[in-house]
Amino acid sequence: MTTSPLEDHELEACRKGWEALGAEDPRFAVLSDPCKRGGGWDPQVFDETGRRQIEDAARLLACHGVTFKSGAALDFGCGVARLTAPLATTFERVVGLDISRPMLEGARARLAGVENAALVQSSSTSIPFRDRVFDAVLAHLVLIHVPPATVPRYLAEFRRVLNRGGICTFTVATQVPHGQGTQRIPIRAGDELSPRILLSATPRDQVLAWLAALSVKIEMHLPDDTPQADGVQFETWVFRRI
Ligand SMILES: C[S@@+](CC[C@H](N)C(=O)[O-])C[C@H]1O[C@@H](n2cnc3c(N)ncnc32)[C@H](O)[C@@H]1O
Repeated sequence: MTTSPLEDHELEACRKGWEALGAEDPRFAVLSDPCKRGGGWDPQVFDETGRRQIEDAARLLACHGVTFKSGAALDFGCGVARLTAPLATTFERVVGLDISRPMLEGARARLAGVENAALVQSSSTSIPFRDRVFDAVLAHLVLIHVPPATVPRYLAEFRRVLNRGGICTFTVATQVPHGQGTQRIPIRAGDELSPRILLSATPRDQVLAWLAALSVKIEMHLPDDTPQADGVQFETWVFRRI
């Protein structure tokens, strides 16, 4: 799967932005609660958000009758392994993949002593794994930050690396602070030269069209209609490779 020079350029800009964020304040970059800016996250409280999220997700999948094998999982855009670590208690093997080396350093520290977890750096839209090696792929709070044109490629890659019957869960945003489209947010407010990260909204019909083109089964779609203080509206999708 090839990318255009423009997409390569945009992905390189993303990598720089996430490397800067990962070096400055990685937990705040992952969960941007304004009260936690400047190293304000207590590491234990932060890790607890991940544990609770994985528990809640497992309960929700069970309530909707969505079953999955607990063999191998890919945590795509794993950040500092907030979700990778609790996934390692559910799955036999977990791989955390991220574009940002400083984020992966944080993930390595978090996963010290966890023997069934591995970490991989990649800034490509081609996921560096063979076909059909994972039973689950998780991409939480990641596709909102990639160049919009690359989202369908990543979805196709998630499908490719899933075993038949494997599931993928991912979040997108239907709304970002200034409405629709893509925003470029500087790492340091007011600093014109600082690297920027992308924040994009994707219309629901667009996601449906991409998933239809992949011939996957949509198992769950959870619109989060609660108004968010920061103006971002998320939705979670779960599809199964058939
Ligand atoms: C908001 S954080 C979410 C981290 C993690 N999923 C969680 O919920 O704790 C987004 C992560 O995605 C990573 N990321 C952004 N673009 C990526 C890409 N194109 N490929 C892989 N990782 C990417 C960033 O480096 C960052 O660690």
